[in-house]
Formats: sequence, structure tokens, C-alpha cells
Amino acid sequence: MREDIAKVIVPAAKLKARVRALGRRIVRDFDGRDLHLVTVMKGGLFFLTDLARTLDRPLSLDCLGISSYAGQSQGAVRITKDLDDDIQGRHVLIVEDIIDTGLTLAYIRRNLLLRQPASLTICTPLDRPYRRIVDIDVAYVGFTIPDEFVVGYGLDWRGRYRNLPYIATLHPEVMRRE
Ligand code: IMP
Ligand code: MG
Repeated sequence: MREDIAKVIVPAAKLKARVRALGRRIVRDFDGRDLHLVTVMKGGLFFLTDLARTLDRPLSLDCLGISSYAGQSQGAVRITKDLDDDIQGRHVLIVEDIIDTGLTLAYIRRNLLLRQPASLTICTPLDRPYRRIVDIDVAYVGFTIPDEFVVGYGLDWRGRYRNLPYIATLHPEVMRRE
């Protein structure tokens, strides 16, 4: 895989330190309240398990599966796997992989708010705030990154590279070949 990588954008050690710092803030901010982590599959899984292990407090977690309709209007999202558990009255922390236009998250947020959680907070390791189409309040951000397609730490190119422990760009020829 190494030979497919063009440039490391966020090295593994930096990710690790940042996740730990976010974890400390979350523990402080949710003092005395039980957290319910909701991750968006599959990209959010890597951040979820790292973040959860930094949270020294009672918590539960669940996974939401979504797919975007490629080629259709932006932000058209479909739930492919719903949450297992009810979130009514719970303090929900959405654990994403990256927020770009914000359209995916806007849909998820609207959908989850209808279920009347006690609170709904958003956490993401990566953000491109300058790409936003819809305004979304993101409470916890790991890194703001440049406008280049990246893989690793949950992010994929055609289903691959999610397991890279760092965030990186791919050589253009990798993205051109089948
Ligand atoms: P948004 O709806 O435009 O905010 O898109 C967010 C989703 O697009 C993320 O959850 C990712 O699945 C995907 N995405 C956005 N940028 C990248 C990237 O650089 N690499 C891989 N996936 C990305
Ligand atoms: Mg995603």
C-alpha cells in the first residue's frame, strides 16, 4: 500500500494525540452524563474505537449505515442500517470521519433529532469547513485539512485504504487505474 501513497497529511502520532485531547474535552463537557456514541459506517469506525478508549466514563455505542445516491442531487442520503437502540432522552455524540459539504451530516442530524435525544453533538477527526454547503455546528474537530482527496483512518478510495493509521493522499495514477 505504501507505494500508492503520495503524501501523508496527518501522521499517526498526531492523530493519536489529537484524539486523546478531544477525549479529555468530551469527558469534561459531559461530566455526570452518560454518553451514547453513534458512528456513521464505515468511515467513522476507526475514530470511534480510538475515541471510546480515551473516554474514561460510562458509555454505550451504536452504528448507523448510510449510502449516498451517487450522481443524484447532492445530499440525497439513504439509511442502509438503522440504529439498534432508541436514542430518546439520551446524550448522543455523532462520530463522523470527515465533514465536507455537510450535506450527509445535515440529513443524519435531521433524522436523529426527530427521535428526540436529550442532546445531539457532533465530533469529527477531519473537517473542510470552507467546503460547507449547509451550516452545521460541529463541537469537536480534530484537524482542518486542505481540499485534496484523502484516505486512511476510516476514509476509503473504492473501499480500500481505510486501515491506514494515518491520513494521506494517493498518487493520481492509483485513482485512475481500475
Ligand atoms: P459531505 O456530505 O459532503 O460532508 O461528505 C462527507 C462524506 O464524503 C464523508 O463522510 C466521506 O464518506 C466522504 N468524503 C469526503 N471527503 C472525502 C475524502 O477526502 N476521502 C474519502 N471520503 C471523503
Ligand atoms: Mg462517511
